[in-house]
Amino acid sequence: MVPVLDMPCNGKRGLLERMVFRGIVFNMSWEDPEMDRLAFGVGPQDTVISITSGGCNPLNLLCQSPRKLFCVDGNPAQTALLELKLAGIARLDHQTFFDIFAARKPSRVLQVYRPLLRPHMSARSRAFWDKRLWMAARDLYRFGSLGLFYRILRRFLRLLGIPLKRADEFFELRSLEEQNAWYQKHAAPKLWGKWSRRFVQFKPFLYVAGVHPKQFALVDGRHDIYDYVKERFEYALTKVPIYDNYFLSMAITGRVRGERVPPYLLRENFQTLRGNLDRVRVVNGWLGPFLDSQPPSSINKFNLLDIFDWMTAAQFEATMKSVLRAAAPDARLIYRSGSYRLDPPASIRPHLHHHAELARELFARDRSATYGSFYVFSVRDGHAPKREMLP
Ligand SMILES: C[S@@+](CC[C@H](N)C(=O)[O-])C[C@H]1O[C@@H](n2cnc3c(N)ncnc32)[C@H](O)[C@@H]1O
Repeated sequence: MVPVLDMPCNGKRGLLERMVFRGIVFNMSWEDPEMDRLAFGVGPQDTVISITSGGCNPLNLLCQSPRKLFCVDGNPAQTALLELKLAGIARLDHQTFFDIFAARKPSRVLQVYRPLLRPHMSARSRAFWDKRLWMAARDLYRFGSLGLFYRILRRFLRLLGIPLKRADEFFELRSLEEQNAWYQKHAAPKLWGKWSRRFVQFKPFLYVAGVHPKQFALVDGRHDIYDYVKERFEYALTKVPIYDNYFLSMAITGRVRGERVPPYLLRENFQTLRGNLDRVRVVNGWLGPFLDSQPPSSINKFNLLDIFDWMTAAQFEATMKSVLRAAAPDARLIYRSGSYRLDPPASIRPHLHHHAELARELFARDRSATYGSFYVFSVRDGHAPKREMLP
């Protein structure tokens, strides 16, 4: 069984956050792993840390065989989802694992949970799934907050006159020309207007989609959330090849297609994942305190998703100081933001080298249509200054 570390949870979380971000919020991760793979270039000597979220991110990184992989999340339900997947990798054959986590025949989880998966999970995650296995058995991607949001979105698209059958054919298109023609003919005339503006501006919908209240304020405060969502969606639907876009396929049609799935679900990676399970450490807790509990200069790669959009400026700076302290020489970190620009705090920037061109290049290929910006940094001076040395 993969060891699970429970960190004391001392962070003060707002009422709204505690109400919205409980239970499984992210039934899958919306970060394009191909960008992470090219940004990191993970090697067998690397100690990697990743925010867990839907578990997809850390497992995609585990396919690249790092020396050690820490998976950290402050929401124990997200950790429980990761533990279910890790137990599946340890005890199931690939077809059963795929049927459950690509939701081809999800009810197969009912036969294997008690005899094979449950013994391989922590007590907290067993207690979670003992009550909620129906979510996995009836298709994980229909449940959790994000699952609920997908269903609301699909109903809304149908109300706008975009039939599912039509959307299905869109995901089989093989060229940007065809995508553009389809989009201009079947989507653009119906998709944007007063109803979608009301839909996007109705905060509870976006909270259910996993947009943190601070993130909503950050994006809407700077860019008008409707214009932002329109620009991001149009970009992904018309400028990025749609054929293997499993993010939008899941959200818009409720399923992934064939082998067009995240790397961790592919048959070719299954034995590698199983062989790498002893390198995984699961952490229930918040990133800053966990990093401060680690030896200085001990982590090579930091996959931080969009957690800084969830923070105040002071929390952003404090967490980045913890990153610098734990960073090994020439460590690399990546993060995303809902806003078009979220630079590191001024006190931190001198310690970082910005791989701006690489980030721009990779961001242009982002299939997720979720983020406004993507950042790739390496720790500049090789010896992360001791925390107290920083201003
Ligand atoms: C930042 S959210 C965003 C998810 C992302 N958009 C996705 O699609 O996967 C991802 C996860 O980060 C966790 N999280 C947020 N702030 C954190 C922190 N400071 N430390 C650890 N986990 C954190 C949340 O509980 C959530 O599961």
